[in-house]
Amino acid sequence: MIRVEVDQARCEGHGVCQSTAPEVFTLNDDGVAEVAMDPISEEITSRVLAAVRACPVAAITSYPVEVSPPGAGPSLTAASAGSPARPAGTVSTTDPSPISWSEEHGGYWVVTGYAECRAIAGARTGFSSVPTVHIPPSGLAERGVRIYALESDEPAHRHERAVLRGAVGPASVDALSGWIRTRAVDLLHVLDWSGPVDLASGFAYRLPLDVVSKVVGVPDGLAGELRLHTETLLAPATQEQAEAAADRIIEIATATITARRDHPVGDWLDELIASGGADGDVEDEAVRAVVALITGGHHSTSRALGSLIARIFSEAGLLDALLEDTSHIPAVAEETLRLHTPLPSFSRCATDDHVVGATTIRAGEQILLRYADANVDSRTYDHAEQFDVDRERHEHLAFGWGVHRCVGMHLARAELRIGIEELLRLAPDVRLVAPIHWNGPALPATVTVRSDIAFTAQRKICRHQP
Ligand code: HEM
Repeated sequence: MIRVEVDQARCEGHGVCQSTAPEVFTLNDDGVAEVAMDPISEEITSRVLAAVRACPVAAITSYPVEVSPPGAGPSLTAASAGSPARPAGTVSTTDPSPISWSEEHGGYWVVTGYAECRAIAGARTGFSSVPTVHIPPSGLAERGVRIYALESDEPAHRHERAVLRGAVGPASVDALSGWIRTRAVDLLHVLDWSGPVDLASGFAYRLPLDVVSKVVGVPDGLAGELRLHTETLLAPATQEQAEAAADRIIEIATATITARRDHPVGDWLDELIASGGADGDVEDEAVRAVVALITGGHHSTSRALGSLIARIFSEAGLLDALLEDTSHIPAVAEETLRLHTPLPSFSRCATDDHVVGATTIRAGEQILLRYADANVDSRTYDHAEQFDVDRERHEHLAFGWGVHRCVGMHLARAELRIGIEELLRLAPDVRLVAPIHWNGPALPATVTVRSDIAFTAQRKICRHQP
């Protein structure tokens, strides 16, 4: 018996594995290979090993089943009589075990183990994202808005994800990358480099907002308020605040669609509007799609870019290494996403009974997948809390896993890479001039820097302007 893993970041969707061992490999709708069988039986082992050898980008790894790879975890099995059930009484959410029970919000399982999170998020059936993936429900769920793709199950999910891929899939991101670069340069140039500059508020929180507004086509004048509403939605002080933010986001999405009906630009949203909608209510579908991109694409990527900038200034020698060779930026970004997971958790509801590791989860029970904790699971990562770009690769779970894995990850990765490339190009002498302030583990409040070179460049530009 063997077990295989696909490095999804490396996979280029050649499909050789799928044609060699179709029982085991599938291509998901991102065109990336996934493993459908774990562990793999003797009969098909030889074909799987042929697929491992044939993969043109060496993205598949095989392990004898006796030697469990770090991160390959408990398989999910249907619960049977006699399997251990939920522990009696309350189990604290700080319990070091990978699955514990919390009595809050009506009771739910808290899954902090890497392997357990991956097994549940990667299961094709048996768990639901409807009606919401938030515990407690977000202001949008309270308003009856199910976020497009994120809060859908198959088969609707497949259609909705395909629509969003038209907006933020790899081809759209390639087409948008020139615009992202120009926007990054513009944002950096308008900062006042004559003194200390805060890259968190001036750059990290601006670029993703501008990019997502561009993808969605938010009318001028409305984009500016989105930052406030998306952040409020994520961490409201009161229920009223959450619902007010949700109402305003829905209004902005509706205004976006109304504007688009009058002035189509021939993009994914026009196509969705013209299609009439999968269930005949295109207005509702288009609003849910726009809301998904606005809420999914802004604060997540702002936090990631802010954390990445903060890390670059915090790790000894890292800034110099990147100035010397910017091709390392993506690897640094991935390690930052692992350690500063921007969106820490999403939930599911079990629709069948399951045994996960030593725990039985019953149909109808809620589960919180703590991706942030899974990303520092010491059973998977050596010296898990340390920043180590050269560590042995295990796909982090910052973008989730399985069919709901972030559809916007190509866009997010492009923003992180281009944002840092342009910062280092404009300000190669950039240096930190004050301590970094954090509002949370993935939420830098201020990253204050200076650059004489950026200041000189800015003065030259000003002199040439009429
Ligand atoms: C660093 C930035 C980002 C992070 C960390 C992130 C994180 C995630 C995670 C963890 C999920 C899975 C949710 C689950 O398991 O239920 C997800 C899904 C999703 N994300 Fe992102 N995201 C990022 C950027 C973006 C961007 C830029 C967009 C779009 C503009 C976006 C849109 C979505 C959507 C629509 C889904 C639902 C996909 C589906 O259910 O098929 N995200 N994201």
